[in-house]
Amino acid sequence: AQLHQLAVAAGLKYFGTAVSEGNVNSDSAYRAIVNNKNEIGQLVPENGQKWDATEPSRGSFSYSSGDIVPNIAKANGQLLRCHTLVWHSQLPNWVSSGSWTKATLTSVIQTHISNVMGHYIGQCYAWDVVNEAVADDGSWRSSVFLSTFGTDYFAIAFKAAKAADPNTKLYYNDYNLEYNGAKTDRAVELVKIVQAAGAPIDGVGFQGHLIVGSTPSRGSLATVLRRFTSLNVEVAYTELDIRHSSLPASSSALATQGNDFANVVGSCLDVAGCVGVTVWGFSDKYSWVPSTFSGAGAALLYDSNFNKKAAWTSVSSVL
Ligand code: XIL
Repeated sequence: AQLHQLAVAAGLKYFGTAVSEGNVNSDSAYRAIVNNKNEIGQLVPENGQKWDATEPSRGSFSYSSGDIVPNIAKANGQLLRCHTLVWHSQLPNWVSSGSWTKATLTSVIQTHISNVMGHYIGQCYAWDVVNEAVADDGSWRSSVFLSTFGTDYFAIAFKAAKAADPNTKLYYNDYNLEYNGAKTDRAVELVKIVQAAGAPIDGVGFQGHLIVGSTPSRGSLATVLRRFTSLNVEVAYTELDIRHSSLPASSSALATQGNDFANVVGSCLDVAGCVGVTVWGFSDKYSWVPSTFSGAGAALLYDSNFNKKAAWTSVSSVL
């Protein structure tokens, strides 16, 4: 059996992956797995829909990179998650270094959201509307958005998103929510702020950039997911990868990685409002981890030769 099929049989909507725009048209072994919709039922563009790609200069929109993955999902009949609209990173300088008033930056956000979501209207199961607005210590993350609006930009973004595409799920998405600490508390507060402002929010994405041997237990993860579903939003794992801190990984470290993946996927099965699991790439050949976390890697389900790892077997067994 294959992962998306197993996930659906277990009650999830999908098992999916991020897809690298730079490799999907040149690596046929990689592409074959992307195209296998029994294995991969949902795609998300790794970079192409980010602000620096879609609106590199003010009012000038480009979808050449952003369209690559949505077109594959359409051709294959796979679900599409769309990512992301308001984020401090991969944000062009004209936004991050502009001198804005609340009125002018509101207009910039609304124009960006209406153009980008309008371009993909009807195609996205969900959109990550606001990404990573909380810092690891639980403070609000510094950005041009925070310095201009305080927390008022959340509602501005979610209302603009609803107006642009009323039929997609609108998500807040962040990492390190899995540990149920100060950052998680602040993300709970964010959902409440959006709801109190009368703005629509449908989901919270747990990115799930985790570490082998330090991943919380299945029960702890289910508990933290439920903190959000009890606010009447759905949840999903949106960018799952579980990295080894030192390489090469021993066979026992690979087995531990499998247990960690099974705990994450299992926690989604345990929570009624958890709709699916998306890995942030599937093969160790293409992963953001080694270039981001020095010395770490091998965080995915297939090795760099597209052989299934112990983690793949663990995920298939828990589903
Ligand atoms: C990463 C991509 O994987 C890299 O290719 C890129 O250079 C940087 O961004 N959180 C997110 C994702 O929401 O968009 C990030 O993706 C990983 C962390």
